[in-house]
Amino acid sequence: MAEIGTDIKKAAALLTQGELVAIPTETVYGLAGNALNIDAVAKIFSAKNRPQFDPLIVHIPSLSFAKNYVHEIPKKAERLAQLFWPGPLTLVLDKKDDIIPALVTSGLNTVGFRSPDHPLARKLLTALPFPLAAPSANPFGYVSPTTPEHVNEQLGNNISYILDGGTCSIGIESTIIGFEEGEPVVLRLGGLSVERIEAVTGKIKVFEHSTSNPVAPGQLKSHYAPGKPLKLGKLEELLQHYPAHEVGILSFSHDYNSKYQRILSPGGNPEEAARNLFQFLRDFDKMPVSIILAELLPDAGLGRAINDRLKRAAAVDN
Ligand code: TXA
Ligand code: MG
Repeated sequence: MAEIGTDIKKAAALLTQGELVAIPTETVYGLAGNALNIDAVAKIFSAKNRPQFDPLIVHIPSLSFAKNYVHEIPKKAERLAQLFWPGPLTLVLDKKDDIIPALVTSGLNTVGFRSPDHPLARKLLTALPFPLAAPSANPFGYVSPTTPEHVNEQLGNNISYILDGGTCSIGIESTIIGFEEGEPVVLRLGGLSVERIEAVTGKIKVFEHSTSNPVAPGQLKSHYAPGKPLKLGKLEELLQHYPAHEVGILSFSHDYNSKYQRILSPGGNPEEAARNLFQFLRDFDKMPVSIILAELLPDAGLGRAINDRLKRAAAVDN
């Protein structure tokens, strides 16, 4: 198992030696390594058992750090970074050359940048002379971790240190924005709502997930799977079809009075639901149920990103 602590100097020293450290961000925990060190980056892929066609996000303290690595920054990207960084937003920009190794970006000519909004992550990033490549700190295909314990349970044997920043305040991964001729498009729904982005950019295209030829491999349906099969639908109807003692119930706000239920937000708040989502999906793994029954949230704000994760979890045969 890995050591869990709050020692930034220790984290910085390990990262400088090319080792991996799990780091807190406001979205989910990341599995970080020196983005400019190909051996460190290779360790990330192998620790997560992640296929090399799935590129990593590069974490930086602010937009000015991206300027060393990209050709030009679209006007709308600058504006979004000004307004929403640090925060749950990843910007995919045209990559300059190979200062950032091709392994980080899976050979693409673009690179995803994010400036995370967590005090420990920010202290660490400003202390280091290099950016951090960091995917979510979970085995490939599984739900992302939102506490140091989640990381330790699944990757504790593959890393030596987990920087403890408590429970993630947003709870789902960043929104990923790419650019087509300077115009933003949503490649992955996430912790920054489309409405907040559109208030700045005007109407934007959202790529819904697909199984073939993903633009962002985060669009693969098989992502975000909990350990048990998940069925989506109207809970009242689903509950008629499954024996009560075998099901776990994941509701948005309704109380079904079941021992094996989790209510994402009793007050019907999508931000609270996002904070609870991945913890609750993990909780079902430890319950004596064989299937999770879940319902979609109203398709607005973070509800949209939560629905995206639920649909992908439901698409997995396990
Ligand atoms: O909130 C987050 O984004 C977290 C924290 C740790 O920052 N990170 C995260 O990383 O969710 P990961 O690796 O689990 O998901 C990142 C997604 C991947 O699916 C990847 O395909 C996409 O970002 N991505 C990265 N670089 C890309 C690029 N150049 N073009 C398109 N998609 C890219
Ligand atoms: Mg991930």
